[in-house]
Amino acid sequence: RQNERDSLYIVLNFAQKYYQNLLMEHEEGQSIGLSYFRNRGFNDPTIKSFGLGYSLTDWDGLTKEAAKKGYNPELLEKAGLALHKEGDAQANRATRYYDRFRGRVIFPIHNVSGKVIAFGARILSADKSQPKYINSPETEVYHKSKILYGIYQAKNAIRQEDVCYLVEGYTDVISLHQAGIQNVAASSGTSLTEEQIKLIARFTNNITILYDGDAAGIKAALRGLDMVLEEGLNVSLVTLPDGEDPDSYVYKVGAEGFKKHVQQATKDFITFKTEMLLKDAGDNPFKRAEAINEIVTSITKISDPIKRQIFFKRTADLMKMDEQTLISEGNKHLRRRE
Ligand code: GTP
Ligand code: MN
Ligand code: MN
Ligand code: MN
Ligand code: MN
Repeated sequence: RQNERDSLYIVLNFAQKYYQNLLMEHEEGQSIGLSYFRNRGFNDPTIKSFGLGYSLTDWDGLTKEAAKKGYNPELLEKAGLALHKEGDAQANRATRYYDRFRGRVIFPIHNVSGKVIAFGARILSADKSQPKYINSPETEVYHKSKILYGIYQAKNAIRQEDVCYLVEGYTDVISLHQAGIQNVAASSGTSLTEEQIKLIARFTNNITILYDGDAAGIKAALRGLDMVLEEGLNVSLVTLPDGEDPDSYVYKVGAEGFKKHVQQATKDFITFKTEMLLKDAGDNPFKRAEAINEIVTSITKISDPIKRQIFFKRTADLMKMDEQTLISEGNKHLRRRE
């Protein structure tokens, strides 16, 4: 098993170097991939430090190059880098396999200790019939639910700043780094898992969610918020103007403008949730009651009774409600769960 994992790390590292070299040195890579990244505002040190790359439009650029180096296609397949056509057993082995990533810019995904374990790959055209991003499948070394994009590059800064910014996408991580905000990692568009929160908890107890400023982002943020509370970490939120994500917003307003926004717009989870839900509820008493219940439910996810107590008090103040009513409502939830 360890042997197999080691061979995967080796071939994944080879692939990362291969894609990176195409981006920096190959004509197609430069004219399509590198200019794409530069147009998005990524500078060369940024491109290097994330090991970004490019995959040729050929069917089997990587597979062929790997074969030359003695990596067999079965290993490439196990690493999530190649696929094979079925029912082609007569043909030459190397030609049965083809590259998973073709004609896309490449984002290597590293584990906490910096080994390449997978890739994300973005399409360059506006072709809507293709998915915008494709990713490595689950492999022996890549478990999507256990890793966060950028955690390797971010971990020291997370420790130092004692907070982790959690964003949705690859380019959000990269652009914030370039703007000097390095304590940032991405859930890569999937819903946050317990393992990912525990990963962050190795470096800090504080998470600030900075998801896209659209309906999907807000919904994901609310879900993420409850997850973080359940794991016993502190969680805040920053909302972005409608239609912006951290990458587009920092591009627009610059590093200082972005930091200022974060300072002004960071809300602890109670304030965020209260404002969100009460705005929707308006004066409707039934909806208000529902909103209050929602918040009580969130608070009951906090396992530390002292923290829970503090948040009940905060909510009572914000909602102009009797604290005891909230607490006894919360206790009902807690009992129901036992
Ligand atoms: P850009 O358009 O390059 O700025 O990417 P983005 O990160 O802003 O994309 P978006 O907000 O749409 O999605 C957030 C993250 O979800 C991406 O970074 C990907 O990790 C993931 N994602 C987006 N689209 C797809 C897709 O079509 N397939 C898969 N598997 N993941 C996706
Ligand atoms: Mn197979
Ligand atoms: Mn989005
Ligand atoms: Mn986005
Ligand atoms: Mn984006």
